[in-house]
Amino acid sequence: MEPTNPAGLPEHIPTHVAIIMDGNGRWALARGLPRLAGHRAGTENLRRIIEACIEFGVHYLTIYAFSTENWGRPQEEVQGLLHILEDVIDRELQELSDQGVQLHHIGRLDRLDPTLQKKVLHAIEYTRENNRLVLNVAFNYGGRDEIVYAIQHMIKDGVQPENVTDEMVSQYLFTAGVPDPDMIIRTSGELRGSNFLIWQGAYSEWYFTPTYWPDFDKEQFRLALEEFSHRERRYGHVSETEGDLAQHA
Ligand code: IPE
Ligand code: IPE
Ligand code: MG
Repeated sequence: MEPTNPAGLPEHIPTHVAIIMDGNGRWALARGLPRLAGHRAGTENLRRIIEACIEFGVHYLTIYAFSTENWGRPQEEVQGLLHILEDVIDRELQELSDQGVQLHHIGRLDRLDPTLQKKVLHAIEYTRENNRLVLNVAFNYGGRDEIVYAIQHMIKDGVQPENVTDEMVSQYLFTAGVPDPDMIIRTSGELRGSNFLIWQGAYSEWYFTPTYWPDFDKEQFRLALEEFSHRERRYGHVSETEGDLAQHA
């Protein structure tokens, strides 16, 4: 059993947690509410999880808020999600900043209307000096789109094929400078990646839970961290314990 620190937290807290915040629609449906009520409840929950990250010592949190494929949802839902993003910036920016959150955006801003683009850029600039938690908001984000965008920029910059390396590709992604996620959590019971961090997640530990996102509370988050703490990350090598056993055989 992994030793726990005095706060009851697992010994190995991941540096970077990424979350596919899924299940808002089903959460609402189960309560006879419109889907947008589920998205609003999901936003409320995000506040709790941000606080938990700060308390537990997670330094990077990446959240999947809107995918490049989500434009295909009914117009009313898409507009509602865009409105929620704007509303969160308008109402919560100061508090997030006071908590020490540094905001980033991953994905493309160009499909958002200019006013919203400006608000996002302002929020990033406003929180630039904060350093308790880096919050990457994936909005209009797609893993494939991100790789296409990186390739386009490498070509524009005249990068020669023999100079392309793993590290260089990482530096051309929206997440340049951010360590790869140690753990990716997906709520709502779906067992797929849905175009999220497909490059950066190459060696992430996945954690799936049937809980819908609005109900994924601090205690459930702590349990996910606990589980992470028991995982052995082998990166294609052999188990450390197996190596020990072989040596003593
Ligand atoms: C996740 O919840 C939020 C977004 C994709 C914006 P969903 O809206 O996908 O909820 P379900 O999967 O339909 O329950
Ligand atoms: C992934 O969830 C995107 C976000 C959580 C923002 P979806 O609900 O869009 O994914 P699929 O359609 O189940 O794969
Ligand atoms: Mg979904």
